[in-house]
Amino acid sequence: MMVLDVRDRYAMRDEQDLLVVLAIVRKLLRAAHWSPMDEQMVIVSASELCRNIIVHAHGQGDFSCKELPYGVEIMAKDRGPGIPDVLQALRAAGKSTHGLGLGLAGVNRLMDEMLVETSCEGTMIIARKSKPTHKR
Ligand SMILES: Nc1ncnc2c1ncn2[C@@H]1O[C@H](COP(=O)(O)OP(=O)(O)OP(=O)(O)O)[C@@H](O)[C@H]1O
Ligand SMILES: [Mg+2]
Repeated sequence: MMVLDVRDRYAMRDEQDLLVVLAIVRKLLRAAHWSPMDEQMVIVSASELCRNIIVHAHGQGDFSCKELPYGVEIMAKDRGPGIPDVLQALRAAGKSTHGLGLGLAGVNRLMDEMLVETSCEGTMIIARKSKPTHKR
């Protein structure tokens, strides 16, 4: 089992920071023997949350990730302008004109739990996913 320091928070200023974080999350999931498909769901979710910090919060935030006894938790926290309409954002799947078009609605689907706290002072999103057990 890989030990990732819970206090590890990664600044999310640009694409370079994003790539570093995705590699770290991938390493954590591989060490915990996630299946490639489930790993990809968490990676895509982490990527969307990080990209939102870069694009919508002008790189003023950070990302962290930790292993749970039953799965994984990712957290994105920023000091951006906040999400104007969370319900609308969660409904808007596939309407994007850039990126993978997954966005927040995608994260909501790909992860098991999602908590959004947002105000004009910033946004915090926590998403958790249990590691599915694969029976053959
Ligand atoms: N961290 C954030 N800070 C402020 N606003 C945000 C943040 N994340 C999302 N938003 C707002 O919520 C909307 C929906 O976000 P979402 O990620 O679903 O779509 P998107 O970023 O516009 O496009 P994409 O599908 O490429 O991600 C954004 O257009 C933006 O207005
Ligand atoms: Mg987005």
